[in-house]
Amino acid sequence: MTANGPAGSTASANPVASRRRFPIVVLPGDGVGPEVTAEAVRVLGACGERFGFELDISEYPVGGAAIRQFNNPLPAEVLQAAQRSSAILFGAVGDPAFDSNPPDLRPEKAILGLRKGLGLFANLRPVKSFNALAASSPLRADIAAGIDMLVVRELTGGLYFGPKSREAIPGVPGGEKAVDTLVYTTAEIERITRVAFDAARLRRRNVSSVDKANVLESSRMWRSVVNRVAAEYPDVAVDHQYVDSCAMKMVAAPGSYDVILTENTFGDILSDLGGALVGSLGLLPSASMGSAGPALYEPVHGSAPDIAGKGIANPVGAIMSAAMMLRYSLNSPEAADVVERAVESTLDRGWRTRDMGAGTGVTVAGTSEMGTLIADAIRR
Ligand code: IPM
Ligand code: MN
Repeated sequence: MTANGPAGSTASANPVASRRRFPIVVLPGDGVGPEVTAEAVRVLGACGERFGFELDISEYPVGGAAIRQFNNPLPAEVLQAAQRSSAILFGAVGDPAFDSNPPDLRPEKAILGLRKGLGLFANLRPVKSFNALAASSPLRADIAAGIDMLVVRELTGGLYFGPKSREAIPGVPGGEKAVDTLVYTTAEIERITRVAFDAARLRRRNVSSVDKANVLESSRMWRSVVNRVAAEYPDVAVDHQYVDSCAMKMVAAPGSYDVILTENTFGDILSDLGGALVGSLGLLPSASMGSAGPALYEPVHGSAPDIAGKGIANPVGAIMSAAMMLRYSLNSPEAADVVERAVESTLDRGWRTRDMGAGTGVTVAGTSEMGTLIADAIRR
């Protein structure tokens, strides 16, 4: 990367031995990505001050931003830097300017290439309601209260990565045929199932595996692999649900879910539904991990080009993703707790970004104001 990175590196030849230093790769991406990642970095900095660690931040363009500069949504140097890091903080990718580009020249290729290139098969998406935001959920308050589920989404298989094609149908003027393929191997299902059951052991010991086994062969195999692995976890309850029914139940009785285990596409759809349940997709964080190497942390929301550059995006999803980074990659669970409490107390004091909805006793803050309030609460 020659034009634009690494930027902001504070590497020194002789770091103070007593201070922990972490090389972090920040990939802001497109739309609101740069705005929300800047606030997550601010919060990580505040944690460093309070808990005595330092971050070596290298920032690189990805997605549409990298297509503009390098005609490549994920330059090889960026993937290599990510591979060498302690953890990756990702913003969002997606830019309507490239909507008609071929798959390899679309902004989304950046995140898909990182997931595949780093082997990040397990995507953890916690969906938890904040007390202060009960009125922001479209659900009745008694249903919205107490939502606390974890969507475990398989991230490197299924329709996203199976063979694709698009071709003209001979003899049919203007007619085309497009194919996406939903592929899973037993090994891929086994490893994500173990992640879900291990996570359930740290929660309420309940796994709901979500599939479409009444129609899809891959889902029938998914079910049998999940059952086989479940036998190794007699202390964890398992049930199986069809994805259509799960979508309904997530709205009607969200409090009934603990861990939802599902394949790539279903997990993508259900996690956005989770965002609506808790009041805004802008709140939700995620962690993507493999069996070794660095993990990647990103908000569940997208690049939101309609509100990009206006300073109004919600940084909470990115900041909560930074908390997950502290817990899982930087071995700082205490700092993670402090970040989560700082977000909570800031919301409790009535601060909201626009997407969380207004109301009495509520003050609307911009993106950087919100990030600053949360960082200040951490330093206190
Ligand atoms: C997500 C996003 C991505 C996905 C896109 C940007 C490729 O929607 O992380 O949920 O579909 O996985
Ligand atoms: Mn999505």
